[in-house]
Amino acid sequence: MTARLQRLRADALAAVDGAADAAALEQVHVSFLGRKGALTEILRGIGGLAPEDRPRVGAEANDVREAVEAAADARGIALRGSEVTARLLRESVDVTTPGRRIARGTRHPLAETIAEIDEVFGRFGFVVYEGPEVEDDVTNFQMLNIPVDHPARDLWATLYVDIDDHLLRTHTSPGQIRVMRETRPPIRALLPGRCFRYEAVDASHGFEFFQVEGLMVDEGTSLADLRGLLDEFAHALFGATRATRFRPGYYPFTEPSVAFDVECVVCDGAGCPACGRSGWMTILGAGMVHPVVLRSGGIDPERFQGFAFGMGVDRIAMLRHGVHDVRLFMENDLRFLEQFR
Ligand code: DAH
Repeated sequence: MTARLQRLRADALAAVDGAADAAALEQVHVSFLGRKGALTEILRGIGGLAPEDRPRVGAEANDVREAVEAAADARGIALRGSEVTARLLRESVDVTTPGRRIARGTRHPLAETIAEIDEVFGRFGFVVYEGPEVEDDVTNFQMLNIPVDHPARDLWATLYVDIDDHLLRTHTSPGQIRVMRETRPPIRALLPGRCFRYEAVDASHGFEFFQVEGLMVDEGTSLADLRGLLDEFAHALFGATRATRFRPGYYPFTEPSVAFDVECVVCDGAGCPACGRSGWMTILGAGMVHPVVLRSGGIDPERFQGFAFGMGVDRIAMLRHGVHDVRLFMENDLRFLEQFR
């Protein structure tokens, strides 16, 4: 009996050692220690032995069981450990691998220029509004002191729409009327937007282009306030030491009207082909809001004064980035757009 038990012990320990995974180990456990296992059978047979042999054989069998149990437990722990290790290896992440490159677009130079303009005037409390691209004749012209058949209409080559008295806005100025009608002074409004004109397209003209309009209305607003504000703007966009000047101009909706020039950004005022050898570049039109226009907006010109300005975004973007042809802004050629990061 003792020899049988010792063989069984050796077999069981070998089988435990040979178990390659948790399932195989379980199999071994069942075949030796399970209800129908080899050792269980021996223990069951102890009752048939001579009474004096029973305690010794029982003790030996229990020893074997304990040894096999202990070996199986140890093997189980070892197997689980190597399974975890194997899984860690399988699922490990190499954190030093370079990431996949994410293709991101770039901001369009016109959008970026508008954002810059918004930001500068935002510092002075100007709030962005937007008007519609399809306007009515009354708001685009008449309320801005440009009556039907007035010769000043020739300043804007207008694209009309097939709806009664509607057109594609020729400038952002009608937005002034909308803001005055929607809000009360003090008003500090900025109106960026797309405009349209019936123009032959060339390097400096498009039939669609962007403008940013500005409007301030308050008590005691003066031309000097306008000049100071525009100086800050010119310095922010074109350099803190850039000289500026007002020239007399004409717009029906402002009185007086001015053109605002900055020292040429190409030659720094020396005179070059880009500035027509004058050393100056006109970047916007402006003036004190005409009383007729204030009245169109429901504002009493006896009490309130206002100034307004309007600039071409395309032209400003060209000056900032040294672009020589406006058409590039609308062609969406990636080789061009990718240069603006
Ligand atoms: N609306 C004018 C244009 O399209 C630009 C302009 C000039 C706007 C003077 C203004 C202004 O607000 O005061 O040419």
